[in-house]
Amino acid sequence: MARFIDEQKRTHRAGELRESDIGREVVLFGWVHSSRDSGGAIFVDLRDRTGIAQVVFDRGADADVHKVGEQVRREWVVAVRGTVRDRGAMRNPKIPTGAVEVLAREVEVLNRAETPPFEIEDEIDTNEEKRLEHRYLDLRRPRLQQVLITRHRMNHATRNYFHERGFLELETPILCKYTPGGARNFLVPARREPGKFYALAESPQLFKQLFMIAGYDRYFQIVKCFRDEDLRLDRQPEFTQIDVEMSFVCQDDVFTEIEGLVFRLWNEVLGTDLRTLYPEGRFPRMRFDDAMRLYGNDKPDLRFAMQHTDLTELVVAHSGGGIPPLAEIAARFADGSLRADLPAEIVKVMVVPASASLSRTETDKLEDFVKSMGAKGLARAKVADGGQWTQSPFAKTVTEAFRNAVNAATGAASGDLLLFQFGRTSVVHTVMANLRLHLAKKLGLIPASGHGGKWSFTWVVDPPLFELDEETGRWAPAHHAFTRPHDAHVAWLDGDPGKVLCHRYDLVLNGFEIGGGSIRLHDPDVQAKVFAALGISDDEAREKFGFLLDALRSGAPPHGGIAVGMDRLAMLLSGAESLRDVIPFPKTQKGTDLMTGAPGLVTPEQLAELKVAVLK
Ligand code: AMO
Repeated sequence: MARFIDEQKRTHRAGELRESDIGREVVLFGWVHSSRDSGGAIFVDLRDRTGIAQVVFDRGADADVHKVGEQVRREWVVAVRGTVRDRGAMRNPKIPTGAVEVLAREVEVLNRAETPPFEIEDEIDTNEEKRLEHRYLDLRRPRLQQVLITRHRMNHATRNYFHERGFLELETPILCKYTPGGARNFLVPARREPGKFYALAESPQLFKQLFMIAGYDRYFQIVKCFRDEDLRLDRQPEFTQIDVEMSFVCQDDVFTEIEGLVFRLWNEVLGTDLRTLYPEGRFPRMRFDDAMRLYGNDKPDLRFAMQHTDLTELVVAHSGGGIPPLAEIAARFADGSLRADLPAEIVKVMVVPASASLSRTETDKLEDFVKSMGAKGLARAKVADGGQWTQSPFAKTVTEAFRNAVNAATGAASGDLLLFQFGRTSVVHTVMANLRLHLAKKLGLIPASGHGGKWSFTWVVDPPLFELDEETGRWAPAHHAFTRPHDAHVAWLDGDPGKVLCHRYDLVLNGFEIGGGSIRLHDPDVQAKVFAALGISDDEAREKFGFLLDALRSGAPPHGGIAVGMDRLAMLLSGAESLRDVIPFPKTQKGTDLMTGAPGLVTPEQLAELKVAVLK
């Protein structure tokens, strides 16, 4: 008999067999997914990455083959030669190969397997730790295989797209010099230069700008980035970006390229034509200020409304409207300790429609929810028929004029519930943004995870260049120090940096930031002003970013770019709940790899070689 693999090659994959194959002789290689003994015959579900085929080991047809069929166990690796035949009355319409089965003529066990610690099925209740510990088994599950195949197609479509549009795929270093700003870096000790460290690239940012300065004009790369950040469902310490940089472009040109990419990905990967949602082929844009005002964050989920209303101006105009804590805020604005254009304190309200008919206990639970996010409480008011407020700490003292003004500003009607937050702007925004999402899930406006068949894209544009570090009281770049301010705002860099807006943009999908970038600063004079506003001296700038500043002075074209988070895209496209479900070998929330045990201890000798000591 001809030997499998060396001589008998695979003719088909298991999941490919169809009615049209009836009568064919086929050779399949794969894993035993399950087997069932019906007396005279053993039915084995043979699995490979394309699906499952039923193979019959019939005693009547071949006693030796049947004997092997009796021995095989789950996850054993087998080779089978046999004939495809009609399943007749036993057809299984639930699987694509269900019309046929393979009558085995020859079989060989290529390898045995220990009994797996969990079943290789999509609907398993094995906990995630166990699955991550045995990720090679987990990755055999059809769902994960589909996701990784999707990622392959995303990579392929991305490369084709950019290649067709004249972009060059160029590589950049992973071992870099540490530069401050941005995310915290992983550091790697340099053995040849004791005491010195490389930083793992958190993104190719500076290198892609250098490509522009070197004249490469249009660059892209599908690239790993490393960030030592607190991890969340949508954050991994190593992740993949579709990184892009272009010369001689404005913001709109960058948007055009990325919109084209996203339309293409949805088309090729999901078969969804986004033009039915966005007929112009473009995504809407929202100013950063509006995003914060209406949704409390810069990545609003626009699949549902439930907007916030900013009441700060009304509160000031009504001197607090008879509500003591609001009167205190109004007084701070009046005596000038708070600035109307950059309010450090804010008053916001959100309306829960009467139709939600939240019970009192449910509303109490909302209060617990906001407290868990650092809020002091959740003031509320139920609007009665005549517009009065009931079930509210404000009900007794609120002035009629203020109450009517709030009802009018929010459009609240009888039966609606008003939820208030006031105080430090950053806290109010965060609490109200999370409350909005929490309520939307609770009220079934969006599913607990996944897209629910809705795709809501938006660009968030024109954010401030700086943000105030509440602890140090100093201005810090909201993104990085190389983002170009609006030309008309450059004059404010000197005296009023908080008002300077810039050409930075994020692409948001269903409440996730899937990409971000900016038009870069290429003018050394403006760059110097930005550093001055940040309190960075010439010497410090030189020491930290010398190579980039030199390069910017050696004929830098106007340029800009963006990076799209590939893992987040894959997560959203596939409806997964977490990045861990779309990354082949992910890290846990603690940044560990449960399968290999990384990060691991190293020997004292290795540390000595690196001249590194570990503090206890
Ligand atoms: P930014 O830091 O906004 O920009 O990152 C771009 C996109 O990368 C994704 N992303 C992440 N995905 C998974 N895990 C993480 N820890 C993580 N961090 C970021 C997000 C994000 O939108 N160099 C700039 C881009 C530019 O200016 O051109 C940059 O890296 O989807």
